[in-house]
Amino acid sequence: MLYNIKETIKHSSRAKEIDINNIAMGLAFTDHMFICDYENGQWNNPRIEPLETIPTHPAAMALHYGQAIFEGLKATLGKDQTPLLFRPDQNAKRLNFSADRMGMPAFPEDLFVEGLKRLVAVEKDWIPTQDGSALYLRPFMYADEAFIGMRASTKFKFIIFASPSGPFFSKPIKLWAETQYIRAANGGTGEAKAAGNYAAAIRPTEMAKQKGYDQVLWLDARDFEYVQECGTMNIFFKIAGKFITPNLGGSVLNGITRLSVIDLLRDKGFEVTERPVSMKEILAAFENGTLEEAFGAGTAVSIAPVEEIGYKDMKITFPADAPVGKDIKATMDAIKTQKRADKFGWIVEVDLTVKA
Ligand SMILES: Cc1ncc(COP(=O)(O)O)c(C=O)c1O
Repeated sequence: MLYNIKETIKHSSRAKEIDINNIAMGLAFTDHMFICDYENGQWNNPRIEPLETIPTHPAAMALHYGQAIFEGLKATLGKDQTPLLFRPDQNAKRLNFSADRMGMPAFPEDLFVEGLKRLVAVEKDWIPTQDGSALYLRPFMYADEAFIGMRASTKFKFIIFASPSGPFFSKPIKLWAETQYIRAANGGTGEAKAAGNYAAAIRPTEMAKQKGYDQVLWLDARDFEYVQECGTMNIFFKIAGKFITPNLGGSVLNGITRLSVIDLLRDKGFEVTERPVSMKEILAAFENGTLEEAFGAGTAVSIAPVEEIGYKDMKITFPADAPVGKDIKATMDAIKTQKRADKFGWIVEVDLTVKA
């Protein structure tokens, strides 16, 4: 379906004034945003507007009851400087999975992808050209009805904004296996990309950083024994030549990088199993010398090799090099920039000529 997306475009882009290959992640924002309002049971008025602050009523329900969800993906430049998106349909699906869990309305998946494409087309000058850099895209939805009381909001906003990022070199990371706080319990919201999941993770993450770790490695809520995922990445282990990654099972985010890594590992001939992974198993493999590598997988860094897991009073260390992880990262980066054939059909080209 071709949507009528109204465009209000600024006369001049700030992209030319800024060295987009040299800005810190998360601090710079492009000139425009895609925005759409939900009222009277439907999404209305999809549009691209100059990015600016949005007046918010103090009783807006997202601020009090946390009906807020988000997504994250990147636009890169391919052959002939064509802007590319990586599996945006998967983000659209996951947003609606999150929306369903949080009592929020579904957003049309084709409009989600169309909104991304149109925003990227408008902001193409903001896509960094340096290797490993990208334009980070943040689609999100929140409840903006002014109301006091516990029920689903009847008004929502869906917005996409963009922020140039990188180059993000994935240095080896240290993870702290958390045995006091939890991120997700079965039946909770862990499988949704809900803002509240991140709010609850902030304090434990700060504590892990004070101990010298980069991110928390979350364990199951009942026994603190089974690995779930890291702060912003899923995790893979290689033990005796085979890969394992925690199964989704209700409390792990269905990472799009995770999905892609599973396909790439299998394509390269590795056995990959999705199943419960216990700290006992990791410790035993460490002690008997079969723990070969581990890496985190997420949009921000693509692949980050793990060099250490702090667990209780122990340090589980990994060989400095994670050769398979490195190879998977190189393959994925090459697919994302059309330097390698996209045999899985993951890449969506942004047509710069389309207008509704
Ligand atoms: C908690 C969590 N797990 C995993 C991921 C990785 O997901 P993806 O590969 O879709 O970025 C993310 C990032 O979105 C995350 O926030």
